Amino acid sequence: MPKLRKAVFPVAGFGSRFLPVTKASPKEMMPIVDKPLIQYAVEEAAAAGITDMIFVTGRNKRAIEDHFDKAYELETELERKGKGALLDQVRSVLPEGVRCVYIRQTEPLGLGHAVLCAQPVVGNDPFAVLLADDLMDSNPPAIARMAQVFDKENCSLLGVEEVPKDQTQSYGIVTIDRMQGDMARIHSIVEKPKPADAPSNLAVIGRYVLTPRIFDLLGEVKPGAGGEIQLTDAISALLKHEKAMAVRLPGRRFDCGSKLGYLKATVEFGVRHPEFGKAFASYLKSR
Ligand code: UTP
Repeated sequence: MPKLRKAVFPVAGFGSRFLPVTKASPKEMMPIVDKPLIQYAVEEAAAAGITDMIFVTGRNKRAIEDHFDKAYELETELERKGKGALLDQVRSVLPEGVRCVYIRQTEPLGLGHAVLCAQPVVGNDPFAVLLADDLMDSNPPAIARMAQVFDKENCSLLGVEEVPKDQTQSYGIVTIDRMQGDMARIHSIVEKPKPADAPSNLAVIGRYVLTPRIFDLLGEVKPGAGGEIQLTDAISALLKHEKAMAVRLPGRRFDCGSKLGYLKATVEFGVRHPEFGKAFASYLKSR
């Protein structure tokens, strides 16, 4: 199996949990302090040695393409004014040695369908999937740990986390063998079970490494809940053909697709900002 060099970023969803801000703007462009969510995800992938960033975009998502493009006018202006530090920040938005490809998902038919849209670019290679609204705060970066496991195990991997039992309805839930360190073989996966039906409280979060076989299975998946093609259904079918493993991810996850999770991330990243973190922390204490 070749090394992990490609990552897919599905960014074509409606972001309905974050309305009204997502009415005309992409959720993935919402900033945590001064960087948009999608930039954190791309930096995480680049730190894992991934070079090909494949974005599955949809309506109202042009800002993402613009964000990673060269901004000639802005750069010329910053240069003219001698604003070197800002110029460096603008130029380093796209990590070095990385290239971007954009594919359009014409209708948001589900996460599984979005991943299937990336097939012509991914081809027969293994690939990572990063959902930018799950912001991972960890060292080593979450996907870097998964790339390391992939090098050894050469199989599909799902990032997992224990969630409170009453939240299983928001996640894909897996059953596993006993954990060996931070990983375990997966037996089964089910999408958004009610707490009473959930086989465990081990939830799949927005980090995956998948083998290209998933594309054949995605092609066969029938639309499920809400008419969407679910990635979970294709992974469930994959388990009949190939081994897949759960990796308990290091660090902390912020669900920035929800308003509360987004606020928590903003506070955490705010208080450690090198420029004004201390001032922000003392403001929070004082109020
Ligand atoms: P979500 O389940 O978070 O959906 O999708 P959403 O539309 O973004 O947000 P809510 O739930 O309505 O608030 C998980 C990821 O899959 C992408 C989303 O952009 C998000 O990154 N996605 C989802 C697609 O790219 N296409 C789809 O058809 C659905």
